[in-house]
Amino acid sequence: MDPVKVGLLGLGTVGGGTAVVLRRNADEIARRVGRSIIVDHVATLDLGRVDELSLSEDIRVTQEATDVVNDPDIDIVVELIGGYSPAKELVLQSIENGKHVVTANKALIALHGDEIFAKAQEKGVMVAFEAAVAGGIPIIKAMREGLSANHIEWLAGIINGTGNFILTEMRDKGRNFADVLAEAQELGYAEADPTFDVEGIDAAHKLSILSSLAYGIPLQFDKTYTEGISKITREDVEYASELGYRIKHLGIARRVEAGIEQRVHPTMIPERRLIANVDGVMNAVLVQGDAVGPTLYYGAGAGDEPTASAVVADIIDVARALTADPHNRVPHLAFQSDLLADTPILPMSEVQTAFYLRICAEDKPGVMAEMTQILGASNISIEAIIQKEPKDDKATIIMLTHVVREGDMNDAISSLEALDVVCRKITRIRVESLG
Ligand code: HSE
Repeated sequence: MDPVKVGLLGLGTVGGGTAVVLRRNADEIARRVGRSIIVDHVATLDLGRVDELSLSEDIRVTQEATDVVNDPDIDIVVELIGGYSPAKELVLQSIENGKHVVTANKALIALHGDEIFAKAQEKGVMVAFEAAVAGGIPIIKAMREGLSANHIEWLAGIINGTGNFILTEMRDKGRNFADVLAEAQELGYAEADPTFDVEGIDAAHKLSILSSLAYGIPLQFDKTYTEGISKITREDVEYASELGYRIKHLGIARRVEAGIEQRVHPTMIPERRLIANVDGVMNAVLVQGDAVGPTLYYGAGAGDEPTASAVVADIIDVARALTADPHNRVPHLAFQSDLLADTPILPMSEVQTAFYLRICAEDKPGVMAEMTQILGASNISIEAIIQKEPKDDKATIIMLTHVVREGDMNDAISSLEALDVVCRKITRIRVESLG
């Protein structure tokens, strides 16, 4: 059989890793697929990369991505440029030209996936995106196929390695935020715009994809509640530890009666949970299915060959399915595209979680009573309170609450912050038992 011909758009970290893995494991891959897969045409602005990676002289190289997209010899276009544009135009043009597409581009899928999948459906081609979520962890395959018997109750993931690296270093070494971020950038884990990592946008891209796969709903990145880790202090990390918790930046999707919670925020989780012990740049996704119970997927969420592992697995999947009837392929978003549900994503005020509150208040009689009275009036029950030794007549009060409606907590925090005895904004971190 003729080899399957791949066109690569981009020869950066992931593009380079993909070319190298395809070459190094070529024989094994051919045994898996039943035919060989070759990189035939590459688009890269940096022509020096071709020598750097010792790519075969038979590979055609161009600086124009459209040369690859419009090349009639190419079966699968692999988009590894990232960002919205020109990635979107190149992917749509590839589909228009009848080519299958593999992409690692989470931003593209999260924002334009519905349009891209509709076009792919119309043209009878596949769009595969395993590398878009949690790098090398085959979480999309697991959710779309391995767990397809289940009603997914909830999932919670550490899906941004840079954020996890920062929180881990802050906890283990007492390092400060900016310093650790700079190191993550040097190591090549951070996004081109690092606010995407620390403000949760990258995780929200990935979470909206996972949520659609879990619940059979259209992609709704714009409805994902997104809160970053830049306001987490070393004190919060320390107090969380004292209480037996770790702070992780989690993406959480949960189905409740009224709809779907879809949220990214710093979260305190009991330190005995396996996912609480996922450290450094590693990623992990915990999925609770009604039949299987909890399952945990762990691995490298970024890096050249870990991400290439997912890209190449997609290329292999597409190569195997090339001859399959388009109607019998695994649907892009796990559910048949004409049977997607309109279950609403809930506004954050309707979400229910427990809370950690760090309150700075004057150290004088009656202050605690005033504060607990406000919480009681908002129907908020306290699970634990610690008061730290006061400094300059100011006390730090740490509270853990039982599960409350976020809207009630917002009201209570506004009333607390309006008290003269409360000295500055209250820090809140949501708490999840993940049990
Ligand atoms: N910036 C991302 C991270 C890279 O830190 O996880 C992988 O998507």
